[in-house]
Amino acid sequence: MTLAPDMNKVSVLFSAEEIKERVALLAKEIANNSSDDLMIVALLRGSFVFTADLLREMYSIGFFPQVDFIALSSYGTGTESSGKVIQTSEFKTDIKGRSVLIIDDILESGRTLLFAKEMLKERGASDIKIAVLMEKPGKLKVDVKADFIGFKIPDSFVVGYGLDWANNFRGLPYIGIVDTN
Ligand code: IMP
Ligand code: MG
Repeated sequence: MTLAPDMNKVSVLFSAEEIKERVALLAKEIANNSSDDLMIVALLRGSFVFTADLLREMYSIGFFPQVDFIALSSYGTGTESSGKVIQTSEFKTDIKGRSVLIIDDILESGRTLLFAKEMLKERGASDIKIAVLMEKPGKLKVDVKADFIGFKIPDSFVVGYGLDWANNFRGLPYIGIVDTN
């Protein structure tokens, strides 16, 4: 077994309760503004916990979208994005003419979401919207915007609730700011 990551380096930004409350509201907002035959495409790996909770909140209000995933990568193991997005899994679902909602954990430079959006547009999606759990204001480098946003956060590196630092901390039930020094 590898050494456990140091939890003392993480300070809570949003508690599990705060996240649950916000995700339930987002599920309603999305359901009220989407067609019944929505196709969700969630970006791995950071959005897996958010997506799972969002889907169950949607279920509880009678909204049942289809779901698929694409793995995209830009960070490597550091806390600065490399700026180059690569697709690390195949995507075979036919989305021609479909309304698609892309889900990601964080909108930062926007490169990841723009890459996903262009890929899905090329494959014939008729309508593409974006939902993110968090947005770091002032960091956008490309022309993309989120239609649904959970939280606006300060410019710090956050982990937990699916988000990682070199694959650590994904299982934290809360979102925390990590001291990367
Ligand atoms: P963008 O392409 O610069 O918008 O970066 C978005 C991607 O970088 C997200 O999908 C996240 O996986 C990752 N990311 C950005 N900020 C953080 C952070 O604070 N913690 C963990 N991952 C992050
Ligand atoms: Mg990610």
